[in-house]
Amino acid sequence: MKPIQVGLLGIGTVGGGAFEVLARNQEEIRRRAGRGIEITMVADLNVARAQQIVTGRAQVVSDARAVIANPAIDIVIELIGGYGIARQLVLEAIAAGKHVVTANKALLAVHGSEIFAAAHAKGVTVAFEAAVAGGIPIIKALREGLTANRIEWIAGIINGTTNFILSEMRDRGLDFAAALKDAQRLGYAEADPTFDIEGIDAAHKATIMSAIAFGIPVQFGKAYVEGITGLAAQDIKYAEQLGYRIKLLGITKRTPEGIELRVHPSLVPARRLIANVEGAMNAVMVHGDAVGTTLYYGKGAGSEPTASAVIADLVDITRLHTADPEHRVPSLAFRPDAMSDLRVLTMREVTTSYYLRLRVADEAGVLARVAMLLAEAGISIDAVLQREADEVGGEGSTQTDLIVLTHDTREGTLDDALAKVQALPSVLAPIVRLRKEELA
Ligand code: NDP
Ligand code: HSE
Repeated sequence: MKPIQVGLLGIGTVGGGAFEVLARNQEEIRRRAGRGIEITMVADLNVARAQQIVTGRAQVVSDARAVIANPAIDIVIELIGGYGIARQLVLEAIAAGKHVVTANKALLAVHGSEIFAAAHAKGVTVAFEAAVAGGIPIIKALREGLTANRIEWIAGIINGTTNFILSEMRDRGLDFAAALKDAQRLGYAEADPTFDIEGIDAAHKATIMSAIAFGIPVQFGKAYVEGITGLAAQDIKYAEQLGYRIKLLGITKRTPEGIELRVHPSLVPARRLIANVEGAMNAVMVHGDAVGTTLYYGKGAGSEPTASAVIADLVDITRLHTADPEHRVPSLAFRPDAMSDLRVLTMREVTTSYYLRLRVADEAGVLARVAMLLAEAGISIDAVLQREADEVGGEGSTQTDLIVLTHDTREGTLDDALAKVQALPSVLAPIVRLRKEELA
């Protein structure tokens, strides 16, 4: 059978990796897919650089639309990124009857509903394994491997850049800016690294997983997003003293009231495997009612790990190319006419436990007053740590840090109680609050 022909839009970090891995493992991939898969046309704004990578093995053009217009191309890979031109090109490729492979989580989290509806109407596939957790086949696991389960929750380290920064700061004492620069040099960071450090990239990925897990539309606008830029070094240190590590987690959870969808730094017990995931590695925990808790670990960013997922999608599409569209695996796991309208909860409705750091006057009765206000709100204390004033503020200091770990409570209940605690005269600075996930 003649090889399936692929057009590649954008030959940067991931595109370059996809081109190289496909060329290197061509024979192995042909034996698995049942026919050859060849990238025959590449579009990139920087034609000279693209030609250096392609070295005559494919036609290089500067205009992505020339690839889409080529009737010989069966599959278009979009590896440009962003919501702008990438959205237009993906929709045009679908309209032209091409299957699409993309690693663009931003595009799918924000415009996924439009894109999947267009693909369904046209009977083509939009595949996006590389969009979540790089080389880890988590989309395949959620959509196919765990299809028997009612998924209860997912919690993951799904941004390599921020995990790399947190690891470098903790283990090598690098400052934030130096660690971010290294992550950019290694090709982990997004074109706009704000997406990484402010938690937006992780929220894009959590949004996509949430849709697949619970059969709801992609709803990035309803995700709660908090990055790592506000994290203070002393909270990382206090968390360690209490037996926890701080990780940027993407969490989505089914509750009787609706779906939690949130990204924020979280304290995780140091004994959990996921707390020991370091560098640009990603790990995703999925809890299904039948299977229990499962863990998926691997490289979440970088050229060839991400290319591995892109090519897996190419093979999948090649295998199913001629299958009846109605019998293909649905893009979001559930059939489009069987989606659920489960509501995404606001943060005030979310239930979790908390780490609180209060800078307080080192005087009698402070702890009792704080404990009283929490107790009045029905918030149960799990642990308390109080540092000696001298250790916190230097010799003769009259201030100290009071660290409180709570049991599960509603965020709205905690917000209201903390407003009262904050108003106590002996609480001297804004209270630091981090969420804590036991992931049991
Ligand atoms: P890069 O910036 O390295 O590559 C993008 C490429 O697209 C560049 O070569 C760029 O050219 C080219 N380009 C830009 N505009 C156009 C256009 N209109 N037509 C043709 N080519 C164009 O990005 P990455 O490879 O890192 O990321 C690609 C996608 O993969 C993104 O959606 C990203 O979020 C996602 N992703 C990235 C991962 C990673 O580890 N890097 C991991 C998982 C997903 P020029 O440089 O000249 O602008
Ligand atoms: N910028 C992303 C990260 C790339 O650091 O995880 C992989 O999606």
